[in-house]
Amino acid sequence: MADHALELLDITCTFRARDDARQRYTAVADTTLCVAAGEFVSVVGPTGCGKSTLLNVAAGLLEPSAGSVRVFGRPLAGINARAGYMFQSEALMPWRSALANVMVGLQYRGMAEAEARAQATQWLARVGLAGFEDRYPHQLSGGMRKRTALAQTLALDPDIILMDEPFSALDVQTRQLMENEVLDLWAGGEGRRAAPSPERTPLGGGHAVPGGRGRKAVLFITHDLDEAIAMSDRVVVLSAGPATHPIGEFVIDLPRPRDVAEVRMHPRFVELHSQIWGVLRDEVLKGYAQQLQKAA
Ligand SMILES: Nc1ncnc2c1ncn2[C@@H]1O[C@H](COP(=O)(O)OP(=O)(O)OP(=O)(O)O)[C@@H](O)[C@H]1O
Ligand SMILES: [Mg+2]
Repeated sequence: MADHALELLDITCTFRARDDARQRYTAVADTTLCVAAGEFVSVVGPTGCGKSTLLNVAAGLLEPSAGSVRVFGRPLAGINARAGYMFQSEALMPWRSALANVMVGLQYRGMAEAEARAQATQWLARVGLAGFEDRYPHQLSGGMRKRTALAQTLALDPDIILMDEPFSALDVQTRQLMENEVLDLWAGGEGRRAAPSPERTPLGGGHAVPGGRGRKAVLFITHDLDEAIAMSDRVVVLSAGPATHPIGEFVIDLPRPRDVAEVRMHPRFVELHSQIWGVLRDEVLKGYAQQLQKAA
């Protein structure tokens, strides 16, 4: 479908066991998952079920054993150049300052140093890090490192944003701040603010174009159901592994703009939470039991 930014079609991912090449583990099986242009989709599922695996497939970092990926209607071959990826683990280069970390992707794309510096500075300011340009990752707090990673991803102006539990290591307050900021940037600065800020463009867009390009498509991985509901247009629930696949899909018809802390009090939020948790609960318990078994 042309209006889909990203289509994962009948994806299966089978891994070889590390200690015994004859043994195989099917992490994800027959999974179809689509994100429309401008849509914010979250995927929730128990730990170890295959969420990062699916995101790696969407990024073109992992070739599925079966199935296909389409990006804006075209088959994906190799790295997904239309997507920006925010990893689950910290991915900043420790030997580069915050500014240099944000600049590096722009320079790889052939941008002249002065222009890359100007854009990276602008992006650091947008994520609230003006004045921290020269700090190295070890001189930044966990939240600031995540902000830098966010600036790094958005500076490249991707049409699709892939986020793998980006804020799970943060304390609750910092996390909610960051979630609101992501929503705000995604909405083009009109998020929770009454008056749109002219400097902000919808997620990405190094150049300020008021009323410019539309929202980005976002595929957001989390195991936190509250976060998924608060942020998304749609929540997809994955089963526990092996052979993980979607077992439920819910349209989040909560009004926007949203404040992630306040929206939790909305009666519709509570209703959606209880519906989705009804589907997710058993899978979480299964996933947990499997982890214990693996550890034994
Ligand atoms: N390269 C690999 N080789 C072998 N097994 C793998 C590989 N990558 C992932 N797996 C296995 O596939 C399953 C899914 O892993 P994945 O990292 O996608 O889970 P996840 O849902 O992202 O987990 P978490 O919530 O803990 O981040 C796990 O059982 C994992 O051990
Ligand atoms: Mg993961």
